[in-house]
Amino acid sequence: MRIRAARPEDLPALFALVDRYARRGLLLPRSAEEIVATLADWVVAEADGRVVGCGSLVWMSPALVEIRSLAVEESLQGNGVGGALVQALVARARSAGARTVFALTRAVAFFERQGFRVTDRERFPEKVWRDCVRCPLRDRCDEVAVAMRLDAEAA
Ligand SMILES: CC(C)(COP(=O)(O)OP(=O)(O)OC[C@H]1O[C@@H](n2cnc3c(N)ncnc32)[C@H](O)[C@@H]1OP(=O)(O)O)[C@@H](O)C(=O)NCCC(=O)NCCS
Repeated sequence: MRIRAARPEDLPALFALVDRYARRGLLLPRSAEEIVATLADWVVAEADGRVVGCGSLVWMSPALVEIRSLAVEESLQGNGVGGALVQALVARARSAGARTVFALTRAVAFFERQGFRVTDRERFPEKVWRDCVRCPLRDRCDEVAVAMRLDAEAA
């Protein structure tokens, strides 16, 4: 298994993976057009020449970035693929100058194991105003905000 930058030929696999979990309400839907337009911000996990996992960065500001559309094929879950995707996305965020990486998730223990801490989503007004206000689930959202600071002095 290796983690690499997404390429145009990954598009059908990326769309299918995200769509499968979006239909179950586990991920936000992403259209094929949106994935194409943001492809430079996606990474994939590849095993035996096949895309088996993915994740993307969505920039809220030059200092703040969200991990979104993190998914691993069911049959391969529990083998560290999701963790490797998160670490690759964090490394990308760091080298691009982000100071904070966050996610809204139900997989809280998973993110904590990757070094994230539970936090208050109101810390991310950029996210709330951009996405949450338009979300039909905003008044009964069960997602938890988790974040990791990348600037050393502020843990
Ligand atoms: C979350 C996800 C990406 C993890 O991928 P993975 O390859 O299984 O991750 P890893 O193997 O690195 O880590 C697995 C650990 O995370 C835990 N975990 C996975 N999903 C979890 C969840 N929803 N809540 C809490 N813990 C979770 C597993 O229990 C496992 O713990 P264990 O090692 O003690 O058994 C994967 O389960 C997935 O694609 N889920 C569906 C989509 C989704 O919910 N994405 C997250 C949205 S932010």
